Amino acid sequence: MNKHYETIVAGAGVIGSSIAYHLAKRGHRVLLLDRGRIAGKASSAAAGMLGAKEDSPLFQLAKASRAMFPALAKELKDYSGIDIGLQQHGIYKIAANETEKQELIERGRLYREQGEQAVWLKPEELQKREPAVSSHLSGALYLPNDGQVSAPDLSRAFALSATELGTEILEYTDVQGLIRQGHHVTGVQTNRGAFMADHVVVACGVWSEDLLGRHSIVMETYPVKGECFSVRTRRRLIQGTLFSKGCYIVPKSGGRLVIGATERAGTFDETVTLGGLIPLIQEAAQLVPEIVSAEWETAWAGLRPQTKSGVPFLGLHPEYTALSIASGHYRNGILLSPITGKIMADIIEGKEVPEEWLSTENLLHREVKL
Ligand code: FAD
Ligand code: GLY
Repeated sequence: MNKHYETIVAGAGVIGSSIAYHLAKRGHRVLLLDRGRIAGKASSAAAGMLGAKEDSPLFQLAKASRAMFPALAKELKDYSGIDIGLQQHGIYKIAANETEKQELIERGRLYREQGEQAVWLKPEELQKREPAVSSHLSGALYLPNDGQVSAPDLSRAFALSATELGTEILEYTDVQGLIRQGHHVTGVQTNRGAFMADHVVVACGVWSEDLLGRHSIVMETYPVKGECFSVRTRRRLIQGTLFSKGCYIVPKSGGRLVIGATERAGTFDETVTLGGLIPLIQEAAQLVPEIVSAEWETAWAGLRPQTKSGVPFLGLHPEYTALSIASGHYRNGILLSPITGKIMADIIEGKEVPEEWLSTENLLHREVKL
């Protein structure tokens, strides 16, 4: 007889793993499936910035999620032994010229209007805080509350903590379709056979559309490829994250710097190209000249799951019962992973989800059609 679970989560990226973790913490019997390795895709490619953007419809959701990280870091360490590398040194949005300076000063005002700290730093003030940053810049908007984590570690910590709490994980298990009785979902069909559950969550990143498309569910999502590279320096060059129009530089522990990222929409190709890396290297050297003496480490690419509406699908499917979807977190999946796990666990438990967490654009019901 097939084993029965309360919830099956398809996709063990940061989103599926966070959902499994939040459900397991509440005592649910969960099966987490991935056709590859845990966090083998976008979730390990991410730079790990926790940057809540003031012009995004997800700003409130992002702030609520960001606020969950300090407690989460401790919790995940306790369950899994993994340090998610939370750093709270802020993000500097860099102005390279006068036009960008005016833009950022205005954005600073909008941040503050919404209750977020944002401090304009003149070039000399920026250099005082971050001496390795070039003296040829026009200043920076400093967002002290934006931090960063190690994205691969966060994703693994969610998954391993979930297993500590009783979740079963099966890697190399391809979910090939949903098992249904009419419009009621009862499990999934995989390359290892059928698994049955009271509820199925699809969290397959850019591949959710492919899986759901087999059941005529139209999602209108698309991949946005991002390439990154990392280097090592003898001493830590910067404390906070630098974010300019051309690149970002995220300082990790042990003198490691992650530099990203390109954006190319509509491709499932995950190769790293020199054409992608060269402008990133040039831009990084403009921001932090000393970076040219850093030791090369590695480069990689990942596929960000973007939706046509620009906000993720988050919630129950409007017509299939016992099916929910959490997909399309684009550039913010790491930042939004804690709140996504909590929201999905609430939804599956039939709890009311606070209105401010589900902006109208967030509602899945209007977006996913049979
Ligand atoms: P994924 O991590 O892609 O996971 C989906 C999983 O589903 C995969 O493991 C896949 O193998 C599995 N799967 C697919 N189909 C099936 C199937 N049929 N059966 C079983 N399993 C299946 N976000 C931030 O918040 N901050 C950042 O700084 C940041 N930087 C980024 C930098 C880059 C270069 C990229 C590419 C992304 C970045 N992101 C960042 C975005 C973030 O990485 C994504 O939003 C997030 O990882 C999406 O998570 P996911 O779990 O939905 O998708
Ligand atoms: N959020 C950073 C990126 O997607 O590249």
